[in-house]
Amino acid sequence: MRILVTGGAGYVGSHCAKLLVERGHEVVVYDNLQQGHRDAAPPDATLIRGDLLDRDRLRQTFEDHAIDGVMHFAALLNVNESISQPQRYYENNVLGSLNLIGEMIRKKVHRLVWSSSCAVYGSPSSVPITEDMPKQPISPYGRTKWTVEMALRDFSQNGGLGSISLRYFNACGAASDGTLGEDRDPEYHLIPVVLQVPLGQREKVFIFGTDYPTPDGTAVRDYIHVEDLASAHLLALEAIQDGQALAFNVGTGQGYSVREVIEAARRVSGHAIPAEQAERREGDPPELYADNSLIREQLGWHPEITDISDIIASAWRWHEKNPEGYED
Ligand SMILES: NC(=O)c1ccc[n+]([C@@H]2O[C@H](COP(=O)([O-])OP(=O)(O)OC[C@H]3O[C@@H](n4cnc5c(N)ncnc54)[C@H](O)[C@@H]3O)[C@@H](O)[C@H]2O)c1
Repeated sequence: MRILVTGGAGYVGSHCAKLLVERGHEVVVYDNLQQGHRDAAPPDATLIRGDLLDRDRLRQTFEDHAIDGVMHFAALLNVNESISQPQRYYENNVLGSLNLIGEMIRKKVHRLVWSSSCAVYGSPSSVPITEDMPKQPISPYGRTKWTVEMALRDFSQNGGLGSISLRYFNACGAASDGTLGEDRDPEYHLIPVVLQVPLGQREKVFIFGTDYPTPDGTAVRDYIHVEDLASAHLLALEAIQDGQALAFNVGTGQGYSVREVIEAARRVSGHAIPAEQAERREGDPPELYADNSLIREQLGWHPEITDISDIIASAWRWHEKNPEGYED
């Protein structure tokens, strides 16, 4: 198939684009390169520098390439930024997605995998989180993700669009062949932030909240390896059916605390990584981890890299080799 990968020069999108190429698909990456990196897009892919808000360029892309399906990663995803800049987030994530869906329907492309997020659940009343639990996002970012999911349901009826929304938990790790990794500026995801200490780019890490009702008092999250996310996308792409809008959690089903992550990073890097306790951050739920039985049953997916030390080791290999990130 010829797959349009929006955001394919970004972290998760580039790992998925790589796997698509390896599986024999043709890949067209569409990315404005505001967060993405030219070097992250697969060398065998066509890279179009374009914005989802540029409807003409998007239309031309669909005219120039006979697209069979779309993996849609392009979005802004900094939760705190979304609180201070809601308009930018709604425009980019919701309007951008509607532009994309509009062009897909115009060209009768009916296959879409959408990067949703566990942020659609907000602060759930219990864990593990199942797909049918209430969708009560607590940030503009989470609300943009849920808004697009709801739109996809509507379009499945009116436009015949087939879609699968994948609600990822915390994406992490790097490509096992060392070619791709996580590089954002500024960095705010826990694992790369922690690894900045052994890289000499940060003196210490802060642990936000040590009085949560969790075994060691720090927040617990589900860390899903980016290559396991990529395999979920490939299975989803194949499973999509016209007129059907499905959604699955993509997580390991296991939670690790902030302290456990830091401890694993110390073991992997051999560095003491000083950590300082700080106040809880607003809107940070104590525990988030997935019940992943639905995607296991319906798509036959399972995560391969689930041990936190293995996950961090894969990230560390990339950061050690590329301390300044991608060149371009
Ligand atoms: N990283 C995570 O932990 C995580 C968790 C849940 C969901 N997600 C979702 O996964 C997707 C990918 O996340 P990521 O971590 O790879 O982020 P990323 O910032 O590395 O990748 C997003 C890419 O989209 C591009 N982009 C953004 N807006 C665009 C626009 N309007 N037009 C064209 N390109 C645009 C950026 O330049 C970037 O390359 C996002 O939709 C995000 O919400 C990520």
